[in-house]
Amino acid sequence: MPKFMAKSLLIFIASASSLAGPAGSGTDRLRYLEESRNIAKEFMQTLGGTLKKQLEAGSPESAISVCKRIAPAMAAGYSKDGRVVKRVSLKNRNPLIGLPDQWERQVLEDFDRDFHDGKPAADIEKIAIVDDPDGRWFRYMKAIPTQPMCLQCHGSSNDIPAGVKAVLAEEYPEDKATGYKVGDIRGAISIKRRM
Ligand code: HEC
Repeated sequence: MPKFMAKSLLIFIASASSLAGPAGSGTDRLRYLEESRNIAKEFMQTLGGTLKKQLEAGSPESAISVCKRIAPAMAAGYSKDGRVVKRVSLKNRNPLIGLPDQWERQVLEDFDRDFHDGKPAADIEKIAIVDDPDGRWFRYMKAIPTQPMCLQCHGSSNDIPAGVKAVLAEEYPEDKATGYKVGDIRGAISIKRRM
């Protein structure tokens, strides 16, 4: 186990046992966990609903802007009060904002392992307290499962319409975010909050 993971695990175990104690950081952590779960759920539901509507109303090409503009705008909107919210993936499409940091990469690899061991993607999450050079952070990640509608832009070559392929080739020359099947982990919502 990498050192930073061992450390975060230990701190979390320590924090979990202090959750029942008097008011203080334990209560904060519980609150951060609840808040993070709510944000991840709302983010996925709102984005999924918007995508679905746009796919029904217009062409798949026209829905690209939902993943491209609305999703990052929503993440930015949730990123306030000391919180940073992102969407990350091991096979990211956007090389700038979709790229995981070292901790996120490790967690995404663990998520894939859990998934291959039979755990449904929708049930996979991770909580940790991580000490970085820039301070101590509460960190949370929630796996994003691939739904049937996602395949039009993240599936195999047969799933993706020619018009979408053309836009993706033009706008994302380094695209890695294809070849997914329904149920696969497409990536994760990652939330960090300064402690
Ligand atoms: C109409 C095309 C389209 C559909 C449908 C679509 N996406 Fe995307 N997706 C994109 C584009 C384009 C990006 C890159 C956005 C950016 O520039 O940040 C992206 C990026 C992402 C990212 C951010 C990480 C990365 O790869 O850069 C995640 C996570 C993601 N999509 C998940 C999903 C899921 C889950 C679904 C289905 C519920 C879905 N997408 C459906 C086009 C689509």
